[in-house]
Amino acid sequence: MSAPQQPRARIRFERVSVEFPSKAGPLRVVDDVSYEIGEREFVSVIGPSGCGKTTMLNIVAGFMRPSSGSVLLDDRPIAGPGPDRGVIFQEYGVFPWLTVRQNIEFGLKLAASRVPPGEHEEVCRRYMQLMGLAEFADAWPRMLSGGMRQRLALARAYAVRPEFLLMDEPFGALDAQTRSAMQDLLLEVLQAEDKTVMLITHSVEEAVYLSSRIIVMTARPTRIREIIRVPFGYPREESLHEKPEFGELRSHIRELVMKEYAAQARQTLRNTD
Ligand SMILES: Nc1ncnc2c1ncn2[C@@H]1O[C@H](COP(=O)(O)OP(=O)(O)OP(=O)(O)O)[C@@H](O)[C@H]1O
Ligand SMILES: [Mg+2]
Repeated sequence: MSAPQQPRARIRFERVSVEFPSKAGPLRVVDDVSYEIGEREFVSVIGPSGCGKTTMLNIVAGFMRPSSGSVLLDDRPIAGPGPDRGVIFQEYGVFPWLTVRQNIEFGLKLAASRVPPGEHEEVCRRYMQLMGLAEFADAWPRMLSGGMRQRLALARAYAVRPEFLLMDEPFGALDAQTRSAMQDLLLEVLQAEDKTVMLITHSVEEAVYLSSRIIVMTARPTRIREIIRVPFGYPREESLHEKPEFGELRSHIRELVMKEYAAQARQTLRNTD
């Protein structure tokens, strides 16, 4: 993933605002936000809980539209969801009425899948293996642990080989070891297949380890606080975590994020007075 200096913009937020109706009048969540995600970029979005991160991802996924401004995909407004965008939801997006194997096959069977039908079985088997789910091929999601369900959601999204991965805290329910393994697996998948990634995470460590750029958002109504270019190339290795430059960047971003969390907490307190 040796991204050129100025990659072609694939996703573009242009002066995007979102308001939701509420009893106390319109609640402004996203406030005049503009940014771009370039070809093969890995952009992480980080910001306090409830600031509007999932809302922004939902617009890119095609599930909702902004109240004003526009979000463009390859210079065209997003009309709805599509198989070009693999979405990993904050709360594991698996179908409870399908088994592990059937969940992975589901996306593959969609007509626009980039995977030829003859390869479905092999792709399915490969991702079950990679995610440690091979023994559970015929199990139902209710029989899996939270972390296993999350791994299934990842397997399902990767298997379709979408051009875009839109990931909303995809590793949140995983233990530290599995989380680290899943981060490295994601980097491997990206190394092998061209993808453009938007990742929402609460982990600064994760954002620095994985991303080419990090967008730090403010408390609600959310705006861009700072966009940080991560100066490390790919492929990345776990030893990166120990480098002084990594630590400095992590500290800088943590400080920014902590200030916004504090602002959001003050705001929540005021609203509950
Ligand atoms: N459909 C909706 N109707 C009304 N309000 C909504 C709706 N969706 C989100 N909100 C509100 O918009 C704000 C932002 O929500 P969003 O889910 O985007 O936050 P987030 O940044 O993803 O938070 P978290 O880190 O906790 O997941 C919240 O105050 C939420 O209550
Ligand atoms: Mg969210």
